[in-house]
Amino acid sequence: MNDLAPLVHDAQADFERAAAPADLENAKARYLGKAGLITEQLKALGALTPDDKKARGALINAAKQQIEAALNARREALAHADLLAQLKAEALDVSLPGRQRGTGGLHPVSLTMERIEAIFGSMGFDVADGPEIETDWYSFTALNNPENHPARSMQDTFYVDVKDAEGRWLNLRPHTSPMQVRYARAHAAKHAEAVARGQAMPEIRVIAPGRTYRVDSDATHSPMFHQCEGLWIGENVSFKDLKVVFGDFCRRFFETDELELRFRPSFFPFTEPSAEVDIAFASGPLKGHWLEVAGSGQVHPNVVRNFGLDPERYIGFAFGMGPDRLTMLRYGVNDLRLFFDGDLRFLSQFR
Ligand code: PHE
Repeated sequence: MNDLAPLVHDAQADFERAAAPADLENAKARYLGKAGLITEQLKALGALTPDDKKARGALINAAKQQIEAALNARREALAHADLLAQLKAEALDVSLPGRQRGTGGLHPVSLTMERIEAIFGSMGFDVADGPEIETDWYSFTALNNPENHPARSMQDTFYVDVKDAEGRWLNLRPHTSPMQVRYARAHAAKHAEAVARGQAMPEIRVIAPGRTYRVDSDATHSPMFHQCEGLWIGENVSFKDLKVVFGDFCRRFFETDELELRFRPSFFPFTEPSAEVDIAFASGPLKGHWLEVAGSGQVHPNVVRNFGLDPERYIGFAFGMGPDRLTMLRYGVNDLRLFFDGDLRFLSQFR
């Protein structure tokens, strides 16, 4: 025990109280700084005799070392506490569920389009695509619509207030039937060559799915909707082939053989005779109801002529079905607008 013991003790207590590195450095200055208590002790040595100086100096150095040791210990403790706090603040809670990256999925109508393409593809049908902004000629005239046919009226068809380079009014196609004419004409040269070589004309067998537009909006009609056109033309293609192909398609689309088909006489300017195609399921919630799924018919000779083909030689059928309707039937959806609202609660059910 010597007179420096209380000083060492005070320093240790001060350092212990320092809660942050800055407090600790202030406390250090009080003992070891230029005007600190230890420094004062060392300055006082000058007045002593050499022997006393030696003994006193050793005591002061011992006290200084104890103070420095306490200082270092506290510095480490504070740094460690700081590290712990930082680790705690940045801690990962590994038990939290991860942030999920949503898995996307195809729109139900796209799923239907893909099914339609796959099924008709397997029956040898090509898949074609064409413009949604059409000319009057393709939408109506080429399809044997008289100039004053009501389908052309402003109430049904969206007209675009612009004419094309040849001065023809443009419209948003009200059906996919223009694709019959576009596709057939696009292949006309190939057909003519085959015929010139004395070969049979290669058959036209195509479907053309896509968006269509009409001035119409309620639970079962949307101003934008989908259609899928079908066309099969050859030298010997009959209504019987239409029944077989369309029946096959329906059974495969709905994955059931318990399905009946009915061709109900109807009228379209571009087919003669024409029929609506109705289906009825033999079981399930829709049992006993006839549901209209397509318009169809044998392609009118005037239209075959507009294909660039001789109607005396080429014959066949066309149909136009509603993929939106097929999607509603397949998944049991009762309001068409659900398809176009973009509500993820609805759409994610089809992932
Ligand atoms: N284009 C007709 C419609 O939109 C459907 C149809 C296509 C009918 C082909 C006959 C042949 O209603």
